[in-house]
Amino acid sequence: MANDILKGKRGIIFGALDEHSIAWKVAEKAAEEGAIFTLTNAPIAMRMGKINDLAAKCNAEIIPADATSLADLDNLVQGSMDKLGGKLDFVLHSIGMSPNVRKSKPYTDLNYDFFQKTVDVSALSFHKVMQTTMKLDAMNEWSSILALTYIAAQRTFPDYSDMAEAKSMLESIARSFGYHYGTAKNVRVNTISQSPTRTTAGSGVKGFDDFIDFADKMSPLGNATAEDCANYCISMFSDYTRMVTMQNLMHDGGFSSTGITAKMLEKD
Ligand SMILES: NC(=O)c1ccc[n+]([C@@H]2O[C@H](COP(=O)([O-])OP(=O)(O)OC[C@H]3O[C@@H](n4cnc5c(N)ncnc54)[C@H](O)[C@@H]3O)[C@@H](O)[C@H]2O)c1
Repeated sequence: MANDILKGKRGIIFGALDEHSIAWKVAEKAAEEGAIFTLTNAPIAMRMGKINDLAAKCNAEIIPADATSLADLDNLVQGSMDKLGGKLDFVLHSIGMSPNVRKSKPYTDLNYDFFQKTVDVSALSFHKVMQTTMKLDAMNEWSSILALTYIAAQRTFPDYSDMAEAKSMLESIARSFGYHYGTAKNVRVNTISQSPTRTTAGSGVKGFDDFIDFADKMSPLGNATAEDCANYCISMFSDYTRMVTMQNLMHDGGFSSTGITAKMLEKD
């Protein structure tokens, strides 16, 4: 299916942990479409994950960065421009983590230090990435910055816990920074709201298997897979979507517009 639609484009891809990660699929497809990019993840994730395999496959260099550290981000963005030979055309923020979810804290008994960590890793990091690229004047005109989000930002899914607040903030940051980046440099900023997907981050949410099945039945097209999501990301990095910015783009097989489906009403 590759058509070289990202030929000549340079980028940074955050968040590829293993072959299930959405970012992993985006990296594979970006390479197929002719892009060159650096891969990054938190140093600790790098030891647990398989990012070296992906780097070899995509002919990409790895620059570790904790996305909450401005010093790490500075090193990553400058290093990426140096290694790739110029300014950037795309960035994928594919990062999420809640210590409250990990430690199964009920929503009504949250640990607030954990909550701050959730917000810093899952939302503020997006602002930090863009503030860093802006200060370093690292993005080309009409370049595209994306983050991945989930519909719990708009509707309550109880076990998503404090990640819901983080995703609401993430989407708001995309709009606010999108205004400033668009006005200053014609850089576009969007979030893609993806169906539940079997990945390390996704599976950390309690009752995930029932939940993924529910979402599938409630979506006229079924759940969007990680590959589908990667294809959408590639189109958003391409020149075919130049005028799309400050949007939260639903990528969910129709879930967000559906009230009830025949599949949900089927009795066994
Ligand atoms: N899986 C789903 O059901 C689903 C649905 C909608 C949106 N999303 C979003 O997609 C994105 C990617 O998640 P995924 O499902 O591919 O899972 P994943 O676990 O493969 O990816 C999450 C990544 O975040 C990275 N990360 C965590 N803390 C970090 C830090 N401090 N600095 C840098 N990186 C850090 C992890 O190492 C990991 O690579 C997340 O934003 C997630 O919330 C996932």
